[in-house]
Amino acid sequence: MKVLLGVTGGIAAYKSLELTRLFIKSGHEVQVVMTSGAKEFIQPLSFQALSGNPVRDSLFDANQEAGMGHIELARWADVIVIAPASAETLAKFRMGRADDLLTTLILATDKPIVLAPAMNRLMWSNEATQENVAILNQRGWMLLQPGSGEQACGEVGEGRMPEPIEIFEAVEEVKKQQQQTYQAWLDLKQFWQGKSLLITAGPTYENIDPVRFIGNRSSGKMGFSIAEAAAKAGAKVTLITGPVQLAVSDQVKRINVRSAEQMFTAVQAHYSNADCFISAAAVADFRVADIAEQKIKKQSDTDEMTLTLVKNPDIVAWVAQQDDKPYVVGFAAETQNLIEYAKDKLQRKNLDMICANQVGETLGFEQSENALTLITSEQELELSLATKDELAVQLLKFISAQ
Ligand SMILES: Cc1cc2nc3c(=O)[nH]c(=O)nc-3n(C[C@H](O)[C@H](O)[C@H](O)COP(=O)(O)O)c2cc1C
Repeated sequence: MKVLLGVTGGIAAYKSLELTRLFIKSGHEVQVVMTSGAKEFIQPLSFQALSGNPVRDSLFDANQEAGMGHIELARWADVIVIAPASAETLAKFRMGRADDLLTTLILATDKPIVLAPAMNRLMWSNEATQENVAILNQRGWMLLQPGSGEQACGEVGEGRMPEPIEIFEAVEEVKKQQQQTYQAWLDLKQFWQGKSLLITAGPTYENIDPVRFIGNRSSGKMGFSIAEAAAKAGAKVTLITGPVQLAVSDQVKRINVRSAEQMFTAVQAHYSNADCFISAAAVADFRVADIAEQKIKKQSDTDEMTLTLVKNPDIVAWVAQQDDKPYVVGFAAETQNLIEYAKDKLQRKNLDMICANQVGETLGFEQSENALTLITSEQELELSLATKDELAVQLLKFISAQ
């Protein structure tokens, strides 16, 4: 693995020599980037001797390929480790600053980043530093917790750089995850490449009059996440969506509809080309029998108003009844007896699979996270709480295994 080691200005910089040695000993390639602060603490020559590569420290280096060392280094690395990560550099990362080689290449990378902070205990516990690391953590950077104990400054507390062996093991973990994720991704791609997938998403709006409608709390996120993930895996995706506030990439063919009847018409026009149909939309069961042509006026002489509703077509059941039906996946959003209702729906509607989805005030709808149980006539798989993007990938994987 190609490890890019960023060393910043802190007493613990000397420990990164041992870290370099550990990487080299286990067969990794290492390139070291030092900040000007780091060079106050340790000579670049030591890293050069251990890594076998010249140390990089200058953003404006005319000797580097096309004079763009930051881009070249960002591309070269499989993983980037910052050890020690000073309070100053963490603050710069958080802000997206790019005023030296290290900060600039960090902005120019999509590789995993492992941070090993090291600083005085008060610098570490300072609200500003804590806010910075919390945000970097949210961005998905791997933050190693500093150790506690006696510090170089003579104080005792939290802020010591994790031991080189701990940092080394964290990087090995990244490598393992990368390999697993990559293999899983290849498998998914192999299955979905060129397959045709039809997805419905979002709510439907059933008009009452020109200004009012009956809707529901579906945000469309689940269906959109599936559409994006499938398109990335190489599938030809058609997404029929009710009114939502979401965007989708150009690889997905998007068809906007409003009512259940419009969604039904669009599905009828497209299902026969699909290898798989995923019905993630929250389609209204009923629509208003007579939609008023003009805005309904408030009646001052009555406290009640009655709307007559008539049944909407059951889109997923209709697709599942067709002779040339694709593989049909439904969703069951329930507030109670989830699995029981979902299994009943699977059977009653002749679906191939159903995704049971507990919904409630703070569950399922309008959230970017969810938990699902995938059910077929032979199998049940619980997917624990995760982002809808992650669930989408797991769902596509489960379908490909059926
Ligand atoms: C003797 C000495 C020790 C220092 N040790 C640390 C340290 O352990 N952690 C830290 O965040 N800053 C430490 N600093 C402060 C940084 O060197 C300083 O904030 C510098 O601007 C960091 O820049 P850099 O992150 O670009 O290397 C120390 C400063 C001195 C003078």
